Amino acid sequence: MIRLPSPPRTQEGLRASAPALQANCFSNAAPLPIMQLTPPVQWGIAGCGWVARDYVAPAIAAAPAACLLAVCDPDSLARQRIGDGEPGITRHADLAGFLATPGLEAVYVATPNHLHRPIVEAAARAGKHVLCEKPMATSLADAEAMVATCQENGVLYATAFDQRFQARHRRLGELVQEGRLGEITAVRVHYACWTPADWSPPTTEGTHDNWRVDPARAGGGAFIDLAPHGLDLAQVLLGEPLLEAKCLFQRRVFDYPVDDGAALVGRFRSGALLLLNVAYNCPDHFPRRTLEVIGTRAMAIARNTMGQTPGGTLHLVEAASGREEPVVIPADEDISPFAAGIEAFSHHLRSGGLFSYPPAHDLHTMRLLAAAMQD
Ligand SMILES: NC(=O)c1ccc[n+]([C@@H]2O[C@H](COP(=O)([O-])OP(=O)(O)OC[C@H]3O[C@@H](n4cnc5c(N)ncnc54)[C@H](O)[C@@H]3O)[C@@H](O)[C@H]2O)c1
Repeated sequence: MIRLPSPPRTQEGLRASAPALQANCFSNAAPLPIMQLTPPVQWGIAGCGWVARDYVAPAIAAAPAACLLAVCDPDSLARQRIGDGEPGITRHADLAGFLATPGLEAVYVATPNHLHRPIVEAAARAGKHVLCEKPMATSLADAEAMVATCQENGVLYATAFDQRFQARHRRLGELVQEGRLGEITAVRVHYACWTPADWSPPTTEGTHDNWRVDPARAGGGAFIDLAPHGLDLAQVLLGEPLLEAKCLFQRRVFDYPVDDGAALVGRFRSGALLLLNVAYNCPDHFPRRTLEVIGTRAMAIARNTMGQTPGGTLHLVEAASGREEPVVIPADEDISPFAAGIEAFSHHLRSGGLFSYPPAHDLHTMRLLAAAMQD
């Protein structure tokens, strides 16, 4: 069962969103009643690797408002493995043939980062709406160009921040907005993993090309790969932008030419602080996916909620008593965050209403990333 986000409190129109940060574009969306849409939005996926195969294609299959029409990847094994080899999906090696698929409406871009810009722009010029993986691009200039091209061609652009749609994060955002935690003083995020130079995704067959440690294709290392999630999520949860951020980088364990860890400190408009630690040098068996929101009335602790899957735990610790209680999420809401995000985007395309996460929000996050990397 899918629950959809509500329209935002304030929203930019599809064509109107100037890249400048809007004062309250960091809305925290609440669920809406379930809506069955007919006909479903016809999706294509460009890039059939790990995230597309294990999360995006299953999410499109699970989302009532979406269906998978076509895929594109130069790698024939990757093309074939996606969507369980379903014969109804057309499989393309070339982008032009993929974009010319009759009926194709929206494209999910899941290629290495340096290809986001050319594929987003080609899709936009072909009149397709775009949901693009994070980071938006390997540079701020590319990200700005992508959004401009989508606006010029009248198509919706959004970044596929799945963690916005994780059920525990959505509930936590509601608790923050309701004042349940009191005045927020800080958000602490530890999001890390073990990524040696020869790393390959858990379910990938054959030799994997680990583009993540190639600066030209990734745009950086652990920081550009992992920090966008924490930066975006913290702003969504608090419903306000970070106004400034500073970062220290490390190359501590691995000798590849990108950072294997970083620590960022930032300040929100309200004065709350963000402490974000990301790493490729953290053994996978350690606790390494932790989100804490600290307020004057209560502190929220989410464990193993950051990532690609539903589940994890969320607890509140009371300031007055120190008592820790779990926040229970109904089983029917604890769905794939990718499915919930694709459902929300598809619903927006069909309803023509306002979308909760305008590109200005994502460009603001890209500016923070770019500024931190230049320091
Ligand atoms: N949201 C998340 O939690 C999450 C998780 C993993 C990856 N990602 C993002 O998803 C994107 C893909 O990462 P991945 O881990 O799936 O990478 P991957 O290496 O497993 O897959 C990338 C795929 O893109 C294909 N490709 C290369 N050039 C192409 C082209 N010109 N056209 C179409 N396909 C092309 C490759 O053949 C490969 O199959 C990255 O931007 C990454 O940052 C996000």
